Amino acid sequence: MDNRPIGVFDSGMGGLTAVRQMIRLLPGEDIVYFGDTGRVPYGGRSAETIVRYARQDVAFLRSFDLKAIVIACGTVSTTAMDVLKGENDLPILGVVQPAAQAAASATKTGNIGVIGTKATIRSGAYETAISALLSKAQLTAKACPLLVPLVEDGRVRRGDAVTERVVEEYLSSVKAAGVDTLVLGCTHYPLLMDVISDYMGNSVTLIDTGEEAARAAAALLAKRNQLNDPDRAGVRLYYASDSAEDFAATANLFLGKDISDRVERVAIENY
Ligand code: DGL
Repeated sequence: MDNRPIGVFDSGMGGLTAVRQMIRLLPGEDIVYFGDTGRVPYGGRSAETIVRYARQDVAFLRSFDLKAIVIACGTVSTTAMDVLKGENDLPILGVVQPAAQAAASATKTGNIGVIGTKATIRSGAYETAISALLSKAQLTAKACPLLVPLVEDGRVRRGDAVTERVVEEYLSSVKAAGVDTLVLGCTHYPLLMDVISDYMGNSVTLIDTGEEAARAAAALLAKRNQLNDPDRAGVRLYYASDSAEDFAATANLFLGKDISDRVERVAIENY
């Protein structure tokens, strides 16, 4: 047993979709979350900037004594994972490998779609990870930059004409390619599950990267005999690089619960 917390970080609030899954699967675990709300979004930035920001995010999290770090951010996982792994001596899990494994298991035809930020699609990380698992895999990838601001504006429901139109615009090429599995390669997309599923059709399996990362974290900690007591109530601490009040006010959308009294601001540029 290991009662140290798990560190989780993201470019902003979106990583809370992964935390939500971790709380469901690992209720006894303490979690320290950092959201870089002062510098979000990362998804349109250069690889060099994403790596620089991610190093600071990890340095802040490592001011705690952690047993592992989960990179909830699709952009950081696809762009900075190797650098971060090479520089840190604790287990670091990203979303790519777990989601690639889930996609490779779910597909029947090998025809898989991947959507994410510009940086995620530019990285080619899903092509590399999925092809290594399934040589017959054929990937159709599409960057969907407008989906993040739509989700952050709360426009996530079925019937929202703007969101439905944007989803149709982005996903038409993925749908036309006839994929049977679609990787939702960004923290925000699980909130659009209904709209995306309505457009793609019921026969397409949607892979929630945060959920797969949470499962992988549970499996890794179990294998290393590092799970905390599952019957205790895990403590979660939330940190943000912009206003703590704004973070708390928006968190409910991603996390499904109120955290107003547990958010602190961090000067991330000092790390
Ligand atoms: N968290 C980012 C991701 O999953 C989306 C927001 C951003 O662009 O920073 O890729």
